[in-house]
Amino acid sequence: MAKLKANINVDTLNLNLPVLEGTVGYPAIDVSSLHSHGIKTFDPGFSSTAECTSAITFVDGGKGELLHRGHPIEQLAEKCEFLDIAYLLFNGELPNSREKTIFTNSIKEHSLLHDQLTNIFRGFRRDAHPMAVMVGVVGSMSAFYFDETMKVSNLNHRKLSAQRLIAKVPTIAAWSFAYSNGSPFVYPKEELSYSENFLNMMFSGPNVKYLQNPIITKAFEKILILHADHEQNASTSTVRLVGSSGANPFACIAAGIASLWGPAHGGANEATLKMLGEIKNERRIGEYIKRAKDKSDNFRLMGFGHRIYKNKDPRSIIMKATCYEVLDELGLRNDPIFKLALKLEKIALEDDYFVKKKLYPNVDFYSGIVMKALGIPNSMFTAVFALARTAGWVAHWNEMLTNEKSKIGRPRQIYTGKLRRDVPNL
Ligand code: SDX
Repeated sequence: MAKLKANINVDTLNLNLPVLEGTVGYPAIDVSSLHSHGIKTFDPGFSSTAECTSAITFVDGGKGELLHRGHPIEQLAEKCEFLDIAYLLFNGELPNSREKTIFTNSIKEHSLLHDQLTNIFRGFRRDAHPMAVMVGVVGSMSAFYFDETMKVSNLNHRKLSAQRLIAKVPTIAAWSFAYSNGSPFVYPKEELSYSENFLNMMFSGPNVKYLQNPIITKAFEKILILHADHEQNASTSTVRLVGSSGANPFACIAAGIASLWGPAHGGANEATLKMLGEIKNERRIGEYIKRAKDKSDNFRLMGFGHRIYKNKDPRSIIMKATCYEVLDELGLRNDPIFKLALKLEKIALEDDYFVKKKLYPNVDFYSGIVMKALGIPNSMFTAVFALARTAGWVAHWNEMLTNEKSKIGRPRQIYTGKLRRDVPNL
């Protein structure tokens, strides 16, 4: 295909700018030289701006397609375990059996926390949100696992830090929950898988044996796989921007957790369950749909809409099917919240406002219902999201540092403040 070109005229300035094309997706005008002509671009929310090149994940919002290193999410969710995906995102290929064994053993080896880290939990009020605890404890890992001998420029050091994070974040998440309800910390067990360990640390105790259920474990694996990565979303872009200054990986991931917490992003699963609880019954759906459409009301239908997907989020389709599997296994098919969600989705998808604005259920619409059915409390939904997304965050952090063209991120602005003026004599 002929090389695309971009011609920009600004007053008397006439510029021919290069157009960059990836393996697939929209072409991008390379505007990086504009500042030398005294011109900037303006794109609040970065809807039209590519901040980097990346080979990790591709989302086609029009088709509703999600690829991780070229593999469709539907096949990965069906055929793989979460650690396969974590390995794929970081290394570029799915692990063979030897690579999988080595990687899994390394994750098991690093799943414990330095015992002094347990003191950090105790600095929080009992009712602290698990995400507040996770931001604090993950950030404090900087003081335990990253010193002057570790260099972000060293690939082996990055691999070690990435594996430490993938291994320890489930322990931190489960202990954040245990701390909030006054339970003793349960330690990861060598003989359990990644998901079995998390569920065991969440639900077992000194005199409570958690009975593993393979259908529940597989459903939890799917939740992790579906949340592992999603291109340059707000939290991943946060990790990249923090990492671009050379900050240590634990500080970067703590920043990503903080960004994910927002209800417009990873906090939407918790907000969706809260919204369904407020709607309560099908008779009130119309009232909430009306509010979602009312510009004077800042209420939005949680779990609906997406910056990129203007078609169904493929993850929500898989999550909905997982919902049926889990609820059937647990005999909860008539769960009122699930039935309400199905009805809300049906009404919204038939409503002109949602159809015209291409607002579909996103990954967060059903994930909360599945997690609630698994016994995971609402307050832990985003912590589970953060647990999964750590695999994507460390992959992007590593990719950015591998790319020698990466430099510190420093967005510009359009200044709308006062012109220069003297301080009055006071
Ligand atoms: C995630 O980026 C990612 O990839 C994120 C994520 C990931 O894996 O990392 O996929 C995870 O964050 C999923 C999104 C979870 N958030 C929610 O479910 C919260 C509810 N959704 C909305 O807040 C909203 O849809 C966003 C934030 C997700 C997207 O917002 P955009 O892209 O900025 O869209 P917009 O606000 O420009 O909306 C376009 C129009 C607006 O109306 P107009 O101004 O054009 O008249 O659609 C309306 C919006 O008011 N709209 C909604 C709506 N979402 C958008 N109206 C009612 N309910 C909604 N949910």
